Amino acid sequence: MCDKKILCIGLVCLDIINVVEKYPEEDTDSRCQSQRWQRGGNASNSCTVLSLLGAPCAFMGSLAPGPVADYIVSDFSKRGVDISGVAWQQQGVTPCACCVVCPGSGSRTVVLSDTNLPDATAGDFSKVDLSQYKWIHWEGRNAGEQVKMIQQVALYNSLLPEQQKITVSVEIEKTREPLYQLFCQGDVVFVSKDVAMHFGFSSAQTALRGLYSRVKEGAVLICAWAEKGADAMGPDRVVVHSDAFPPKALVDTLGAGDTFNAAVIFTLSNGGSLQEALTFGCQVAGSKCGVHGYDGIVVRHHDK
Ligand code: ADP
Ligand code: FRU
Repeated sequence: MCDKKILCIGLVCLDIINVVEKYPEEDTDSRCQSQRWQRGGNASNSCTVLSLLGAPCAFMGSLAPGPVADYIVSDFSKRGVDISGVAWQQQGVTPCACCVVCPGSGSRTVVLSDTNLPDATAGDFSKVDLSQYKWIHWEGRNAGEQVKMIQQVALYNSLLPEQQKITVSVEIEKTREPLYQLFCQGDVVFVSKDVAMHFGFSSAQTALRGLYSRVKEGAVLICAWAEKGADAMGPDRVVVHSDAFPPKALVDTLGAGDTFNAAVIFTLSNGGSLQEALTFGCQVAGSKCGVHGYDGIVVRHHDK
């Protein structure tokens, strides 16, 4: 039981990260402070953080064979992330993002090329041995297929006693109509500040109150709000809050949300409370904002 893994399903891409002193003006030619390659994508980043936290984890998403995929695979392997479920595609290009990280302002600007690589399907997911997993997280992308995958888990769960059921979480980060069908699919639902603002809410707390009716009975809705920390609401409809834990100096906010999600999932999957999960999520995400990339994140946690 204890060795069961957390599976994260969604995007993996190459991030080419330029660290700049000041965000460049359009149509200028400037030098960056540093540049690096990093494995990116929300679900992929959450796996990085889960592995740093010591949780056995796996990634599922699409890749196209080639040098970019080779880089990504070797990085997953360095982190000990299981990628046996990756859907290798015959056609299409592995996504790549140009990222500009500005420590001065804390901004991270991303331009992603994600044009023609087919997403993992419910057919791919049906090959997964669900008995290996205690928690499966979906980054909202091809929502229609993802709903079918979640239905497979619901069927699997229906045959099992409560404590052996797989917990389902979903992230609704982008303001795309088809993603909103995922609200009612998760036991735990992460909704972004962007989506909350798109629905007209100007704080995490009002977003939770306004959007909670969309989640399924008994679910938890979580909304992170950058330097304001994060809030959550469970079936008792009480709003739980954690302030952010700002680092001494803001360095790199790219992937802060993915880090937060991983630390929340880690805590809840180990039996922690919603308050513990939010606080730990903000601590780990805050620490991430103080370092470039993910190495050097300070994590103090108590195993339950
Ligand atoms: P993203 O934009 O990467 O999805 P969010 O804005 O949702 O990230 O932030 C996720 C969490 O990361 C927040 O709840 C907070 O704990 C932490 N965080 C993000 N930005 C900052 C910041 N500037 N200072 C401190 N913590 C931050
Ligand atoms: C960070 C991130 C990056 C990637 C981008 C894709 O949250 O996953 O690693 O380039 O978002 O939208």
